[in-house]
Amino acid sequence: MKTITHFQKMKKNHEKIAMLTAYDYPSAKGAEEAGIDLILVGDSVGMVVHGYESTVDVTLDEMILHTKAVKRGAQNTFIVTDMPFLTYHGTVSDTIQTARKLIQSGGAHALKLEGSGDVFHMIKRLTGAGVAVMSHLGLTPQSVGAMGGYKVQGKNLESAEKLIQDAIAAEESGAFALVLECVPEPIGTLITEKLTIPVIGIGAGRYTDGQVLVYHDVLKYGTDRLTSFAKSYADLSKTSRDGILDYIREVKESVFPTSEHVFHLDDQVLHALKG
Ligand code: KIV
Ligand code: NA
Repeated sequence: MKTITHFQKMKKNHEKIAMLTAYDYPSAKGAEEAGIDLILVGDSVGMVVHGYESTVDVTLDEMILHTKAVKRGAQNTFIVTDMPFLTYHGTVSDTIQTARKLIQSGGAHALKLEGSGDVFHMIKRLTGAGVAVMSHLGLTPQSVGAMGGYKVQGKNLESAEKLIQDAIAAEESGAFALVLECVPEPIGTLITEKLTIPVIGIGAGRYTDGQVLVYHDVLKYGTDRLTSFAKSYADLSKTSRDGILDYIREVKESVFPTSEHVFHLDDQVLHALKG
């Protein structure tokens, strides 16, 4: 299993890091079998699996449940779990209790926290307690309300400078990696060059240390609209719809089941039964 030491080494050697989200046993199993470097149990699970409007409705219990399922499917892959909205903004002790549940009950190897400011204080406390923490800056979907929608971040001088300062502060807080979402490519490049920890981008351009995408986007599974920075490599929606269509048709036309799908009975028994 690759660990944070490997990710550090990969950055140094300019070897790209491929991260993918997974939310359950089959998605985790598939990701591990394909050789993904690390898995993110993202709170995007709320939107792509549960159909919520945003990630703010995702609960701690849901994140624990999904992390457990992912863990069973990918026992040899580094697993990062998102701390859900407003579970790391209260007291330090509450935050540590929440982290403990995600790690001990869920089985996460590391936790991801969105945002800057007071969040860096929490990252410092968590890493001080021995928790591996990934920072998430740029577009931070949990703050969609405060940000006024999903927009590219760091486009003007002031916000770009703040973003760079925040990225440095994240590293100084002890984060082992940074997810950078939805920023102009030059900002992604600049931050990647400035930090010694790996920067994993999503809509942050070509030159970050790695990329992360959402499972359902990569495989086009149940997602109708794809953001411009994502790419689909398969069409599971079509594959599954076609499969279900075939199943329905074969049932209606009595094509399924065939003789090979049924349990047979010894002729003698049948004969005796019928008298
Ligand atoms: O929840 C998620 O899937 C994420 C990634 C998009 C980085 O946070
Ligand atoms: Na997330």
